[in-house]
Amino acid sequence: MNFFHKLLSRTVSGKVKGNDVSLLFTNGRMLSNNLPKLPVPPLKKTLEKYLRTVKPHLNPDEFRNTTEIVKNFGAPGGSGEKLQKMLEDRAAKKENWLSEWWLDNAYLGYRLPLVVYSSPGLVFPLRNFRKESVMEEQIEFAAKIILGALDFKKLIDGNQLEPDKLGESYLDMSQYYRLFGTIRTPGPNCDELTLNPDSRHIIVAHNNQFCKVDVIHKDGSILTPENLVSALFKAVAITTHVSPPVGILTTQNRNTWSWAYAELIANPDNQLSIEVIKKALFLVCLDKEMPELGAPNRQTVAALQMIHGGGSFGNAGNRWYDKTIQFIVGMTGEVGLTYEHSPAEGPPVATMMDHIMQFINKLGHQGMEPGDTISHLRKDGVELLEFKFNSDVKKAIEIAKRDLDMLVKDLEMTCFTFEDFGKSSLKTLRISPDSFIQVAIQLAFFRIHGEPGAHYESASTRKFKDGRTETIRSCLPEVVTFCSTMLDTKASDKDKYSLLLDAIDCHKRYAIEAVNGEGIDRHLFGLKLLAIKSGMDLPSIFLDHGYVRSSHMRLSTSQVNAKCDSFMCFGPLVPDGYGCCYNPRKTTINFGLSAFNCSPTTHSSQFRESLERSLRDMYTLLFENQKAKL
Ligand code: COA
Repeated sequence: MNFFHKLLSRTVSGKVKGNDVSLLFTNGRMLSNNLPKLPVPPLKKTLEKYLRTVKPHLNPDEFRNTTEIVKNFGAPGGSGEKLQKMLEDRAAKKENWLSEWWLDNAYLGYRLPLVVYSSPGLVFPLRNFRKESVMEEQIEFAAKIILGALDFKKLIDGNQLEPDKLGESYLDMSQYYRLFGTIRTPGPNCDELTLNPDSRHIIVAHNNQFCKVDVIHKDGSILTPENLVSALFKAVAITTHVSPPVGILTTQNRNTWSWAYAELIANPDNQLSIEVIKKALFLVCLDKEMPELGAPNRQTVAALQMIHGGGSFGNAGNRWYDKTIQFIVGMTGEVGLTYEHSPAEGPPVATMMDHIMQFINKLGHQGMEPGDTISHLRKDGVELLEFKFNSDVKKAIEIAKRDLDMLVKDLEMTCFTFEDFGKSSLKTLRISPDSFIQVAIQLAFFRIHGEPGAHYESASTRKFKDGRTETIRSCLPEVVTFCSTMLDTKASDKDKYSLLLDAIDCHKRYAIEAVNGEGIDRHLFGLKLLAIKSGMDLPSIFLDHGYVRSSHMRLSTSQVNAKCDSFMCFGPLVPDGYGCCYNPRKTTINFGLSAFNCSPTTHSSQFRESLERSLRDMYTLLFENQKAKL
């Protein structure tokens, strides 16, 4: 029984104010009880669509071969039919046939480091802390974030969150209930996720040390702003010296960390300290200045700070990456968070950030002066967590520092605001803004590399119970045809225009199918996993060039919408790929781009140039042609 099901076992029903759907409140978890189950798409439909998405990555001979393999897989009595039946049986018995498998395989069983490879960064609107009072401003802003987050938690606990919607559909809200008090603990082959939403403390990280700070009283009331500021001052006062960066162990490959974890908790003092971290609602990291990493602008510095903290010379030891939410407050006003991805996707985290920013704007400077003097604080309100290191742990820390610093050197990012237009102008052109941006991303890739790139976009499947994501394979034949025509100097504007409309339309249709649980990647994943679990020889469809190349996602992209001027960012999925996350706002679009230095052919700054050009060229093409029609 995993923790989702433990949570599900205690259920009472209720209503959400202002909505006409009746909802289930499940021990602090709100679910729409009329959300449908994630479907298993018909095999034939998935295979037809699959062939469309592998075509751009194969030559005609390879495509003929793949078509034959797919035909055999889907033939009556073939392995596809058997696996489909098994999957349908599973779906009939489960609330969601995918969710446990996805959690275990995409997240908890994933062995690469959380840093860069899994945990995204979210950059809040940049602030400017005055040099003469940096520490005060840092602490005051951290206190505001804590209060805003606790206010959001209050809404969750009281089941008062307005249910999210996609178009007219209500979305599954369970991810919100896993944001606070959640931790991922490393295991030898698979990690574990545990939840402590009733905790009343947070952890403040400063100078690589960790302090427990009580923020909620026994009666459920939250610390007053002035007492919270005092508590943060105290936490800083008792962590003035820089400690060995034990937190850096959480940046390691998960197997390596699980070995070091066992060593670490062999000491009972360390075990106690880690228990306190595990139970905390979230971390707040008061960072020192970032090392010089050659970032092109402040947005990029902030993004790197959120993603890896600048490595062992920076703030990476001032983190506990296993914790779901870590708010980060930099010295000069770079503010944001990083989150461990297994409990939730970006949108609920972005909604939380919007709430915090709104809360902070309302709060202003009111009541943020330290209240009690430090000596008057209750002794047990702020507590330094002790760690002791044996020689093996010391060695593990040194290795983690070395490994992380290599990763830090490898990751390069370019984050920026595209200023020419945003969602509003695109809507005026009567096109889907998201599909427009996706086609522009593919065009940017095509322009640099002279070939299409396998392209992942996340689609939310939260219309379904316990839904997470599906892949939108944005590299569709129609998109590729548009890209090559757009770059053909001999092609007419009329052709380019009609192919662009076609590309946007095809992408939008795929996106709609994906959010309706009719994508292909999760379905193929389920069939493949069943083949492995049932001891079957892996069907050749999963070993073929078409499968391998179309899944080597050189473009890992996602829209994470937020009301405030922020953006999310993450590393590329493959060494020769790009990460691209964007927040389309009314009149601008924020982008977080990443690439790896180990690949000589991918540079995020070059991608930015190509992307901006693609966005502008496509916009002009649409605008001029629509104008001509009027
Ligand atoms: N003409 C005019 N307006 C249009 C239009 C058209 N042809 N097509 C769409 N629009 C409007 C929409 O109505 C919508 O309006 P709104 O802002 O008033 O709601 C707006 O443009 C945006 O729509 P669109 O750009 O098509 O995309 P979307 O918002 O539906 O998003 C996905 C598409 C796939 C990104 C979204 O469904 C999704 O799944 N998001 C979650 C992704 C995720 O989980 N990421 C995190 C992974 S960690």
